[in-house]
Amino acid sequence: MPDYSLAPGAIRPRRLRRTPALRRLVAEHRLSPAELIEPMFVKEGLEAPVELATMPGVSQHSLDSLVAAAQRAADAGVGGVMLFGIPAHRDATGSAADDPGGILNRAIAAVRDAVGERLVVMADLCLDEFTSHGHCGVLAADGGVDNDATLDRYVSMALAQARAGAQVLGLSGMMDGQVAAVRTGLDEAGLLDTVVMDYTAKYSSAFYGPFREAVDSQLTGDRRTYQQDPANGREALRELELDLAEGADIVMVKPGMPYLDVLAEVAAASPVPVWSYQISGEYAMIEFAARAGAIDRRAAILESLMGFKRAGADAVLTYWATEAAGWLRETA
Ligand code: PBG
Repeated sequence: MPDYSLAPGAIRPRRLRRTPALRRLVAEHRLSPAELIEPMFVKEGLEAPVELATMPGVSQHSLDSLVAAAQRAADAGVGGVMLFGIPAHRDATGSAADDPGGILNRAIAAVRDAVGERLVVMADLCLDEFTSHGHCGVLAADGGVDNDATLDRYVSMALAQARAGAQVLGLSGMMDGQVAAVRTGLDEAGLLDTVVMDYTAKYSSAFYGPFREAVDSQLTGDRRTYQQDPANGREALRELELDLAEGADIVMVKPGMPYLDVLAEVAAASPVPVWSYQISGEYAMIEFAARAGAIDRRAAILESLMGFKRAGADAVLTYWATEAAGWLRETA
């Protein structure tokens, strides 16, 4: 056999990095506006948007300013919006959540009406924004979150959101059996086309900090009895199996950047689309670091989004969706 082995230095990976055109051609992953989803907050009773101190550039919207923001997202080519509602009044069972006249359900209808042909309208399906105690479910006599009583509330919320026009429901509460309960409830009501996106692996995270300001959270304590322990990666695969068996159409890993390993494992194992959520604390870290002059804001944002793609995300929820979509269109 002739010796085909090359001389030292003959294999030079730098060849493919030489010019912008070469780098563009050999890029393994690309970002596009259609795979970005913008979470948005709407607060009952507001007349004008209020910017969040812990998330500069993100606001609690009035109904009108929400619709305008959704229109800007659609103009930028963003794939969807995920709506969160902050009601004027909260109670123990979160009764504003499944009230057709509740702020979130009204917002869903308004956004669907304005941009429903151009992007996908999604709603957060969880009780924490609506309960007086701030937990994601209703409480049992011992003060813990009552899993099965909460499922009944989620089904009622699902029907209200789907009837208001939500095309994708984002089940973020981490109750056991939530996908099966909501799917069955939707199907029994004839809402066969409503998509169920489940927060499959949702970790109990310190990075949710600014979100608590965004939704005026009244939570005392934490969510560790229902959200996952950051120490556990393998457990995400068990949650994935359950979600698939229960009929989830799309699954999600959240938070994002500290959990890219979990995202990669779930993406490798999942036959359905896998999304991730670059959450409020991740947003705040980059914004405040950029303001301090420590990093290049635009480059850091785009690099962070590419990280999600490389790890296997099919779409990313990010508070920069509209802005990043604009940049991507400039350079496309
Ligand atoms: C629960 C929910 C939370 C977020 C989205 N849905 C908060 C939590 O679980 O504590 C956080 C999103 C973010 O931090 O950007 N409804």
